[in-house]
Amino acid sequence: MLGSSIEEIKNRLDIVEVIGSYIKLSKAGINFRAPCPFHSEKKPSFFVSPVRQIWHCFGCNSGGDIFKFVMQIEGVEFGDALRLLAQKAGVELKKQSPEYVQWKSNRERLYEICELACRFFEKQLEEGTTGKEAKQYLLGRGITEESLKKWRVGYAPDVWQGLSDFLSSRGYKKEEIEKAGLALSSSKGSFYDRFRSRIIFPIFDLNSQVVGFGGRIFKSDDPAKYVNSPSTLLYDKSRILYGLNKAKVEIRKKNYCILVEGYVDLILVSQAGSENVVATSGTALTPYQLQIIKRYSDNLYTAFDMDVGGDSATKRGIDLAQAQGFNVKVITMPEGKDPADVISQNPQDWEGLVKSVKSILEFYFETTFSRFSSGTADGKREISKILLPVIKRIPNKIEQSHWLQELSKKISIREDVITEELKKINITNLPNNFIIEDMESKVPVSVKTRKELLEERIASLAIKSPQDSLCLITEDCTPFFGQKIQTVLADLKNKILPQDQEFFNYLSLKAEVEEEGIDCEKEIKTCLREISNLDTRKQLDGLSQDIKKAEDEKDPARVSSLIQKFKELTSKLVNI
Ligand code: UTP
Ligand code: MN
Repeated sequence: MLGSSIEEIKNRLDIVEVIGSYIKLSKAGINFRAPCPFHSEKKPSFFVSPVRQIWHCFGCNSGGDIFKFVMQIEGVEFGDALRLLAQKAGVELKKQSPEYVQWKSNRERLYEICELACRFFEKQLEEGTTGKEAKQYLLGRGITEESLKKWRVGYAPDVWQGLSDFLSSRGYKKEEIEKAGLALSSSKGSFYDRFRSRIIFPIFDLNSQVVGFGGRIFKSDDPAKYVNSPSTLLYDKSRILYGLNKAKVEIRKKNYCILVEGYVDLILVSQAGSENVVATSGTALTPYQLQIIKRYSDNLYTAFDMDVGGDSATKRGIDLAQAQGFNVKVITMPEGKDPADVISQNPQDWEGLVKSVKSILEFYFETTFSRFSSGTADGKREISKILLPVIKRIPNKIEQSHWLQELSKKISIREDVITEELKKINITNLPNNFIIEDMESKVPVSVKTRKELLEERIASLAIKSPQDSLCLITEDCTPFFGQKIQTVLADLKNKILPQDQEFFNYLSLKAEVEEEGIDCEKEIKTCLREISNLDTRKQLDGLSQDIKKAEDEKDPARVSSLIQKFKELTSKLVNI
């Protein structure tokens, strides 16, 4: 049953379109290619085959069908990928069928709760007495009616059980409401809404499904300005970027991403015409978030107050972006203002600010030199204390050297002296390594042995031109081959068996991706020789261990017999 839905979804959707909606694909022969979204690389080794409806990255060795791709790129489980793609394909997953039961997991109930809560809050903003006041307040800050609808802004009334009563009446259990992060229970047994007397900004995942909420204070004396959803099965604040669901297409189109802090800024910036904007929710940018942005663009424009000397969470996030190879630029606001202030006052000003964006280095230089005197020893020291770490983080050596020269000129200190000082700077305590480890644990990079790679190459060459190749791969070389390759080679002579199809598809794509015009016969011979040599070398390694042991044991007879063997084996090594 599940199988049939999967097949139907695959039949209806084109893999190039599905993957192309996430990353930019370019045509490469009969296939498409792109830099891999799952590991960082410059040369694109990620391929999509429309014929076989599969994808594969020859860099990190991940690959599969559309389901696997969606699971990996969205970071979701199979059930969610299934639901997502079913929706895209217009395939209805039957309610009573086992697959529906399997798929309608806890998470699904939570999605429903969040969506219902969002509607409840939206209605309150339209109809509730204080809700209407909150709406007037938002309109007064320059957010249009249209934007309020677009971002589904709402209001949570000043009652203890408004939302939870509503959700209970819709058949959701208290535990579920709590798991969705919308209510709290006290040890004394009371149960109450998390969001009360607050303007509500729903938080969306990449598919515009509501997964969490941010609640800004309105007419209450609660000391907390914001109350946010806790981590739930659906919402992990370190992975979600507010607004990305609507920004992703624009980020790709404009090839830069504007980063602001907070919901109000995002809504106004988007309204002012920069729809390529995302927001963090008052936290530092995490490696996950950066990795997500990287799928769409390498250019990041920040639009918030940045204290160059300080060690704020925000600044650390930007340092990390820089170290990750983002080209970071800074949109600077007039003193003490945030994007929302600028836009509320005069929306036209925003465009100008974006146009006069500065590179992060220019920004750091300007701000630092305006704060310290470049004429005194103290000033020079303070300036280099701020600027050297920034320069050190520039991944491109030419660019780095450019800024070193600049600093040298501006503080009138010889470049070699500054270079010495730069060497002392330690930036390894950046959470830079974390991203690698962390991404790897999510997308394991499988490392193949040289032998496996050679075998695969032989098999894919054989697929490319079976007539010439199969006679070369004779019975006496196949014992060298691993089981998987042996089966595929056997299949090639007759018919590909269903259980081998997936591996065969992968090898076929590999064959197609190979550069044109290679001499298959010659290549196969070379690979076969190399495999045979690998085997011989392994035996030689063993022998030399034995020789060493015999020498240690002072057994000259054994040593000379082993050496004889060694010579014989060595002559078996063939030139490649
Ligand atoms: P701001 O204090 O700048 O708030 O915090 P704001 O959203 O711009 O609201 P206005 O302009 O004062 O009306 C920026 C972001 O930091 C997070 C929120 O996501 C907020 O949008 N934040 C702030 C919190 O999560 N908790 C807080 O207590 C404060
Ligand atoms: Mn603000």
